[in-house]
Amino acid sequence: MKSPVHIAVTGAAGQISYSLLFRLAAGALLGKEQPIVLHLLEITPAMSALQGVVMELKDCAFPLLHRIEVTDDPRVAFKNVDYVFLVGARPRGPGMERKDLLEVNAEIFAVQGKALSDVASRKVKVLVTGNPANTNALIALSNAPDLKPENFSAMTRLDHNRSLSQLAEKCGVLPADIKNMIVWGNHSTTQYPDIHHAKVKGQDALSLVDNDWYVNEFIPIVQQRGAEIIKARGQSSAASAANAAIGQMRTWALGTDPGDWVSMAVLSDGNYGIEPGLVYSFPVTVIDGEVNVVRGLDINEFSWKRMRITEAELKEERDAVKHLLK
Ligand code: NAD
Ligand code: LMR
Repeated sequence: MKSPVHIAVTGAAGQISYSLLFRLAAGALLGKEQPIVLHLLEITPAMSALQGVVMELKDCAFPLLHRIEVTDDPRVAFKNVDYVFLVGARPRGPGMERKDLLEVNAEIFAVQGKALSDVASRKVKVLVTGNPANTNALIALSNAPDLKPENFSAMTRLDHNRSLSQLAEKCGVLPADIKNMIVWGNHSTTQYPDIHHAKVKGQDALSLVDNDWYVNEFIPIVQQRGAEIIKARGQSSAASAANAAIGQMRTWALGTDPGDWVSMAVLSDGNYGIEPGLVYSFPVTVIDGEVNVVRGLDINEFSWKRMRITEAELKEERDAVKHLLK
């Protein structure tokens, strides 16, 4: 049996974690041969609710779950961890934009970035899900001087999956029949889901759908999906968010499929003219745990404008949290 990997999850008593933890314990991240130790972080008032979740985890008798550690101290939670899901943060309610959460959530990521820098494994992979995810990831990485920006990413896999699913339904195929989808920019309503490079069973996606559907239905549906779910459920997406978090981390750990890429928000180094120092979603490939932005794709005027709109929003968010950036 392999030795266990250590996985930290913040916001462990929240609704995303209620799905995420059980799938992690069942082996959804690294497979059925890889034991895990879960490090669960919550705020002090939620510790009692978290004890209930721990009881349920134990009651599943998961063979791969070797130990559960529970704490309200990030420095304890992150000690020597290999994988970290930063989920803990306030979700938005009806009528709010995700960036309205900046003020309440930003500080959390400064504290946790510092703690990760001090105590986590030097190879740690930190995935930020708590909103606004891109800018929270920027805050965390900039407060982590002893880690590299490459240790951090923000979650746009949910947007990527939503895009695959909408296009698959339109074309009457399965999501797995589609390759080379892209979500550019911010996990927000300005995100740009781009099908210019997507292939459906090997055919150009844009040759299979009409442009009016792409511009006036597909793009707004993907951009507004989070808000639609909040309207319908009265709460933000949870199981699909947990699924996307596992998917993004799994790809980061195990790599992308040959001939395909995924969307992941990482620190821009100026690719595609996007301002360096923003956490922006790009198409990426992953080999041996290393994330590389796919370079040299043709970008037309339509795409370029939308990529700039979402970049502008990220600049605004960054400027609003300047006091937390080191
Ligand atoms: P939730 O309110 O059900 O749970 C959040 C949990 O975080 C709570 O239990 C809370 O006590 C805990 N928490 C708050 N501050 C903390 C801290 N400093 N340390 C540790 N834990 C802390 O919310 P949820 O539905 O699970 O969503 C969590 C976050 O994920 C929200 O910000 C939501 O908007 C975001 N989200 C992001 C995506 C994405 O695609 N990036 C998708 C869905 C939800
Ligand atoms: C989502 O996209 O479902 C989440 O970011 C939750 C939200 O606020 O929309």
